[in-house]
Amino acid sequence: MIEKISTLISKDEINKRIADIAAEIEKDYAGKDIHFICILKGGVVFMTDLARAIHKNVYMHFMDVSSYGNSTESSGNIKILMDLDESIEGKDVLIVEDIIDSGRTLSILKDVLLARKPASLKICTLLDKPDRRVSHVDIDYTGFKIPDEFVVGCGLDYAQKYRNLDYIGIISFEEE
Ligand code: IMP
Ligand code: MG
Repeated sequence: MIEKISTLISKDEINKRIADIAAEIEKDYAGKDIHFICILKGGVVFMTDLARAIHKNVYMHFMDVSSYGNSTESSGNIKILMDLDESIEGKDVLIVEDIIDSGRTLSILKDVLLARKPASLKICTLLDKPDRRVSHVDIDYTGFKIPDEFVVGCGLDYAQKYRNLDYIGIISFEEE
């Protein structure tokens, strides 16, 4: 099979949108410290671009979670593969994700983090696939709403590949 990638969102469109979101975040967090929680691995590319477009200090934290699909637990559950290395109590926290698809991961993660008593907790995602939502998630900042297609690039992978593409592409498969 040959993997083909067609552009859905160009590098220029992404950079422009990131600058807009960064400006919005800067305004919303005026006078506050911002604590990003990057969800590994997919969130890392967007987080570093977003952080560099914000002209004030941003603290960076990392978490790795995996969602159990719908095998036996249709309600969904998550496993924390790598946890934060410090407390978020009293901090203004912004979760930075690559994409919200079923919403299972983020809806559960949000509850897990809220139990740790941050001053505030918001969600920022580069992409949103609303057609696929199973669990409701309130998203505070969205880069782009996209159709129900499997996409790669800007942190998003197919079999761990294509994370470093500087655009978002739709992947398709053709016979050789
Ligand atoms: P969900 O919202 O709990 O379904 O989980 C979303 C996660 O699934 C994301 O963080 C991605 O890692 C992965 N994912 C969902 N859709 C795509 C896609 O189109 N391309 C690559 N990864 C995806
Ligand atoms: Mg992810």
